[in-house]
Amino acid sequence: MHPESARVAGFGTTIFTEISRLAIQEKAVNLGQGFPDFDGPDEVKQAAIEAIRAGVNQYGVTTGSPVLRQAIVEHAKRFYGQVLDPEKQVTVTSGATEAIFDAVMGLIDPGDEVVLFEPYYDSYLASVQMAGGVPRFVQLRPPETAEGAWWFDEAELRAAFSSKTRLVIVNTPHNPTGKLFTRHELELIHGLVARHGATLLSDEVYEHLVYPPATHLRPATLQPEHTLTISSGGKSFSFTGWKIGWAMGPEALVRATQKAHQWVTFAVAHPFQVAIAAALRLPDSYFADFVGQYQRRRDLLVDGLRRAGFSPFVPHGSYFVMAGTGAHRRQGEDDGAFCRRLVTEARVAAIPPSVFFSPAHAPSVHHLARFAFCKTDPVLLEGIRRLEAWATQR
Ligand SMILES: Cc1ncc(COP(=O)(O)O)c(C=O)c1O
Repeated sequence: MHPESARVAGFGTTIFTEISRLAIQEKAVNLGQGFPDFDGPDEVKQAAIEAIRAGVNQYGVTTGSPVLRQAIVEHAKRFYGQVLDPEKQVTVTSGATEAIFDAVMGLIDPGDEVVLFEPYYDSYLASVQMAGGVPRFVQLRPPETAEGAWWFDEAELRAAFSSKTRLVIVNTPHNPTGKLFTRHELELIHGLVARHGATLLSDEVYEHLVYPPATHLRPATLQPEHTLTISSGGKSFSFTGWKIGWAMGPEALVRATQKAHQWVTFAVAHPFQVAIAAALRLPDSYFADFVGQYQRRRDLLVDGLRRAGFSPFVPHGSYFVMAGTGAHRRQGEDDGAFCRRLVTEARVAAIPPSVFFSPAHAPSVHHLARFAFCKTDPVLLEGIRRLEAWATQR
C-alpha cells in the first residue's frame, strides 16, 4: 500500500535532518544548521511573557494581530520608506515558510511556471510542486574573486520566461550565497515580470544581515505594483522557533495569499505576534549592534576557513559562507560525500549546497560546502580549531 499522495511522495528526508543526525552521533560542531544557538533580546522575551500573562492566548485575527500589522508597516516605512495599509496590505503567517507556501498556492494554477534562482531555498521548490507549478531555473554563478558578487546570465534569465510564467521568486539577501541583488539585476527582473504580467515574490528574511559597504535594496521599492515582500522575525531577532512571518504588498496579492492562509493555519501564535511587534520597534542601536556582531562572526569564520585550506566566498549578506573545498576534496567526490566525511573526520558539520540545485545543475557546486556562522564565539572557535587540526593532519 502507498498511503502517500503523489504530491508528497517525491519528498525525502531533508539533508539538514541527515547531517544533524550524523552531527549528534559524531559529537560534531554543527555549522550546518541555519539557526542561531543564542536567543534574541530579553525585552522581546519579556513582551511575549507579558502577553501570555495578560491573556493574549486565544485565536488572533486571521490577518494577524493589529498591533503586529501596525509594527510591520512602521518598520517598512522606517527602513525602506514604504507606505502600506496595515488593514489591506499585510498578512501575518507562521514564519516566512508559510507565507511562501500561501503565496504560491494563492497565485499559481497547475501548469503555471515559476522562475527560481539556484541555489534556491528548498521550500520554494516544494511549494511550487505542491501547487502543481513548473519550476524554471536560473543559475547564480560564483564570482571570480573571494570578495566578488554571485551573478546570473541575462540571456538565461530571459530564456526562463514564457507565456506561462506567473511568479518569480527572489531571495535577497540570499541564502546560501550571501548575494544582494543589485538595482540593475532587479530592474531587469522587474521588466520581465511586468512584461509577462507575473508577480515577483521577494523573500527578505535576512534583511537585517547586510554587511557594509553592501546595501540591501528592497525590490518592492523599485516596482511596488507587482511585488509581494515576505519577511519574518526569526533571523532578525534570533527567535526562529517563534515562527512569526508576514507577506506585504499590493492588496490583490496579499488577498490571494491571505485566502490560502485562512485554510492553512487561519491564525498564528498570538502572544509571539505581540512580542515581534515590540522587536520591530527596537531602536536603531539594536539593528546596528546586531549586524556588527554578525560581521565579526563572518570574518572569524572566513579567516578560519582560509587557515584550514578552504576557499570561502565572503558573503555580502545572510549568515552563510559558501566555501571551496579545494585540496580537501577527493577525486570524484561530490559535496554530499565530502560533508558526510567532514562530519566523521573533522567532527564539523556543513551542508552540501547541491541540495539547493536542480539535479541537472547540482554538479556545478560539488566542490563547495555551506557553513553557517549564526553561532556563539566558543562554538565557532571550536569548529575552526577542529577544521585546522583536521587540515594539518592530512
Ligand atoms: C531564504 C529563507 N527563507 C525563508 C526561511 C524560513 O523562514 P521562517 O523561519 O520565518 O519560516 C529561511 C530559513 O532558513 C530562509 O533561509
